Amino acid sequence: MKIIRVKDYDELSRVAADIMIEAVKENPEITLGLATGGSPVQMYKNLVEDHKENGTSYKGVKSYNLDEYIGLPQTHEQTYYTFMHNNLFDHIDIDEKNVHLPDGSVVDVKAEADRYEAMLKDTVIDLQLLGIGTNGHIGFNEPGSSFEGLTDVVSLTPETIEANARYFEGNEDLVPTEAISMGVGSIMNAKKVLLIASGANKAEAIKWMLEGEISEELPASALRNHDDVIVVVDEDAASLLTK
Ligand code: PGA
Repeated sequence: MKIIRVKDYDELSRVAADIMIEAVKENPEITLGLATGGSPVQMYKNLVEDHKENGTSYKGVKSYNLDEYIGLPQTHEQTYYTFMHNNLFDHIDIDEKNVHLPDGSVVDVKAEADRYEAMLKDTVIDLQLLGIGTNGHIGFNEPGSSFEGLTDVVSLTPETIEANARYFEGNEDLVPTEAISMGVGSIMNAKKVLLIASGANKAEAIKWMLEGEISEELPASALRNHDDVIVVVDEDAASLLTK
């Protein structure tokens, strides 16, 4: 595992964007695993700026997102479909047919999870971007998720619902309680993983992930069993590390 410690969110977003941009330039047909949330927002802005200023092209790039809420229409302002289009896809030259997200608006969500996993089986994610939850989740794989888990219908923990209420008028009752998420096992199949964490509220999860026991109680700790992981952490997120 390579750990890059940076000063703050701005530097984290710059460093992470540089890693992504280099990877796309090296392999213009790269398959990216993408993530949503507050952590990658500035990094995506940097990718868009670089695309506009330096012409880095995503024409041949394929993307697979980690997860999607269940129960919202696809174009709802808080779906990850909308997030990805607003923050990245609408501002770069990626081909819409190369963009993949689970669809949480369908009736048979279990069949949708299986369809998504079948697609992942036919592909190799070259570079998987991840955030980390305050409870150590990756994707929506909450504490206790199997390290072998594949894409599935999952329930959000109260901690995650509370963390995400900020996007739903601060009202926990409006946050979907279920999602379709790539499993820890699906994530571990990626060739390379880039995990970003910023802020003091991530410090405990980062400490456990890097220095604690490898345990399904902290899904992100599975990454210690992966042989090509880069973790970019800012000072606040790294503040509890002792090594
Ligand atoms: P955040 O979420 O980037 O909004 O903090 C990360 C996550 O829950 O994986």
